[in-house]
Amino acid sequence: MSNRYAVILAAGQGTRMKSKLYKVLHPVCGKPMVQHVVDQVTKLRIQDLVTVIGHGAEMVKAGLGDQSQYVLQEQQLGTAHAVMQANKILGGKEGVTIVVCGDTPLIRAETMESLFKHHEELKAKATILTAKIDDPTGYGRIIRNENGLVEKIVEHKDATDAEREINEINTGTYCFDNFALFEALKNVSNNNVQGEYYLPDVIEILKKQGEVVSAFQTEEFKETLGVNDRVALAEAEWIMRERTNELHMRNGVTIIDPANTYIGADVEIGQDTVIYPGTMIKGKTVIGLGCEIGPNSEIDSSVIGEETVVRQSVVHKSSVGAHVNIGPFAHIRPDSDISDDVKIGNFVEIKKAIFGKGSKASHLSYIGDAEVGSNVNIGCGSITVNYDGKNKFLTKIEDDVFIGCNSNLVAPVTVGKGSYVAAGSTITKDVPGDALSIARSQQVNKENYVQKLNLKK
Ligand code: UD1
Ligand code: MG
Repeated sequence: MSNRYAVILAAGQGTRMKSKLYKVLHPVCGKPMVQHVVDQVTKLRIQDLVTVIGHGAEMVKAGLGDQSQYVLQEQQLGTAHAVMQANKILGGKEGVTIVVCGDTPLIRAETMESLFKHHEELKAKATILTAKIDDPTGYGRIIRNENGLVEKIVEHKDATDAEREINEINTGTYCFDNFALFEALKNVSNNNVQGEYYLPDVIEILKKQGEVVSAFQTEEFKETLGVNDRVALAEAEWIMRERTNELHMRNGVTIIDPANTYIGADVEIGQDTVIYPGTMIKGKTVIGLGCEIGPNSEIDSSVIGEETVVRQSVVHKSSVGAHVNIGPFAHIRPDSDISDDVKIGNFVEIKKAIFGKGSKASHLSYIGDAEVGSNVNIGCGSITVNYDGKNKFLTKIEDDVFIGCNSNLVAPVTVGKGSYVAAGSTITKDVPGDALSIARSQQVNKENYVQKLNLKK
């Protein structure tokens, strides 16, 4: 088998997106388009992966990191000019190079592998991945001769009316003999409607030199969508969502209403978990077996243990154990670490807090910058007072503590193991273990006081 290389085109501004954000960074199911492409390409056996960057170069580089090598295309003179920039890294190497556009986020590794195989079997110098689609508007068309062999690609804008009738399109993915590619690129001109150096022109150049040029038509036309505007972006999102949801369902996850469930491309979900409508699961979230998530919940970049329930709640960048009950209407903010068997109930906000096994905050609490031990009960309306307007301070609640309702724990403060805090207390000093702490004014009942005021006639 020959050496394999890849070039990903990601330098364009994406004018048709009408956006400040560079096109290939627009997310599809929460992940930038170019990241989708790179993730698929890296599944193939590739020696050198080169991404051509230009607009938003630093952002693209920051996102992809060391998954790729980079070449800069300072001026966007067209897709052929873009590939030319990779000459610095790939020029003169023996092998096959796959070129993929950074705006085709749905393309899968399996399809690219089939393209490689087809190309290698035919010993072609170039093989285009093509697809037949209902509405080919905007795509390059595949022009075949009377024997059905590929002659060239004509861009939509340069096509005659008759050529525009052709519904076999260039998906923007190709395999080339690496050496032949960089030789042919030298002969590409910008003599066309857009005044750009078109990569598809390489096909005609090689064909005219008598080389073997082939097309591999994929049945998976849904993979080949090129995202040039927001309408196509929404379409890609829809297809990707459907694909992701189907994968989870096939793996044993129940999704009550797939059309109203939004699962990111990198999410893992255990068997027998049920996802209720209106749920969004994002980032590199991992959900265990047998959980119940939703309805109307958002989980981002978090780990959730087995048989945990998250109802009508938000969990961000946190870790949640097994058999935990969250919600309805709870908010777990970043850097929280919730152990097994915990209950976080109605209208409770947790931020940067550790919550020990079996502890509970069942109603109307704010627990921020806190370390809560195990078997702690935090009564309704109790809060940690973590902020003095300038700095944040830590509240420590040790194991087996009972915090009475509506207490304020003014940090920094420690409530010792096994102690009780009386309801309505404002605790400003440490509480020793096993103590009862009451920090509120004493109740005074003034007998018959109302009559003395003589307010009642
Ligand atoms: C391109 C193809 C078209 C194909 C379609 C598939 C060309 C000339 N046309 O058209 O045949 O049907 O993709 O989706 O190749 N880019 C650069 N530098 C440049 C220009 C573009 O890096 O100078 C990058 C863009 O960021 C983008 C990709 O190349 O990721 C494709 O460019 P785009 O302008 O979207 O080409 P299309 O008009 O979609
Ligand atoms: Mg495009």
